[in-house]
Amino acid sequence: KLCRAHARADGARTVKAAAVLGAGIMGGGIAFASALKGVPARMKDIAQGQLDLGCGEADKLLARQVRLGRLAQDKADAVRRGIVAQLDYAGFGQVDLVVEAVVENIKVKHAVLAELESRIADDAIIATNTSSLRIDDLAVPLARPHNFVGMHFFNPVPVMPLVEIVKGEKTSMAAVSTAVGYAVAMGKTPIVVKDCPGFLVNRILIANNRAFSQLVADGADFEQVDRAMEDFGWPMGPAYLMDVVGMDTGSHVSNVIAAGYPERMTRSWDDVLELMVEQKRFGQKTGIGFYRYE
Ligand code: CAA
Ligand code: NAD
Repeated sequence: KLCRAHARADGARTVKAAAVLGAGIMGGGIAFASALKGVPARMKDIAQGQLDLGCGEADKLLARQVRLGRLAQDKADAVRRGIVAQLDYAGFGQVDLVVEAVVENIKVKHAVLAELESRIADDAIIATNTSSLRIDDLAVPLARPHNFVGMHFFNPVPVMPLVEIVKGEKTSMAAVSTAVGYAVAMGKTPIVVKDCPGFLVNRILIANNRAFSQLVADGADFEQVDRAMEDFGWPMGPAYLMDVVGMDTGSHVSNVIAAGYPERMTRSWDDVLELMVEQKRFGQKTGIGFYRYE
């Protein structure tokens, strides 16, 4: 089921203060997009280096807006103050909603979600930015699964409009409605989608990626394929897009979707990409994937 228009459900809350777990590609982008629209976001990670990267990206984006005359310096400073980078849970008891954006690994997410639930208010919402894992599967360790919902943002978060809102079996309509309202407040276009591996968009994207990696395995030059797909009208070719997403994340997502639809995706990951993961050629985040990055 997919619906665009969504009436506000009883018990839905307006997100006035948010938090993000994980300051990586997605967590950093979500915290920035939230603060930009006036909803301050605490950003927690386990690595100071990742927090620095997330804040550095926000600084760069804000400086560009100021340089282009789109944002006054004092407004940019206020947005920046809204992003609070931290290694602990300070202040999490006061937030309305937390977006979990750590690695796409169910064991790690289970541990992180259970810990997070014990640090927030009983009625606060936990949203997961998982790309592919079912909400019902992720909800297993939670004492309050009615407050748990999927909120799948796309990369790069500051520019991609769509957010998939995923309702698990136990997710309350108030939680769905709160997530929809938060997405709208961030200037995004939410759609409510079914809880299945890969939801809506990644079922299509992964099928594309698999077709692309099969072409490469058949001997195609990935740069030529990228150029052809750009000429066809895609904003970026499949190899470049994989570098943007991150080969590690892409491989987790692909495996979850292959396990979810074994009859349609018999091979979990293609040799060429498996090799790239083995060699830590994750894409832009490690400076090398299909392409090299300075
Ligand atoms: N962060 C913030 N802003 C960015 C950005 C980034 N990483 N990259 C580009 N932008 C901004 C630019 O600053 C520019 O802003 P203004 O219009 O305000 O000046 C705007 O986006 C357009 O940028 P460009 O003209 O330089 O580049 P473009 O025309 O190629 O557009 C793009 C950029 C919108 C990202 C486009 O390349 C695109 O749509 N790429 C495909 C992205 C995609 O498919 N993402 C999905 C990944 S899969 C996923 O997210 C799901 C998952 O679970 C794995
Ligand atoms: P990433 O590798 O860039 O960042 C993950 C971050 O989580 C790292 O900074 C890591 O230090 C941190 N982390 C790990 N364990 C933690 C913990 N216990 N507490 C707090 N932080 C912890 O990954 P990403 O690409 O941002 O992906 C994050 C999530 O978003 C995944 O579920 C992924 O599937 C999903 N997603 C990714 C994309 C994409 O294009 N990369 C798009 C949409 C959704």
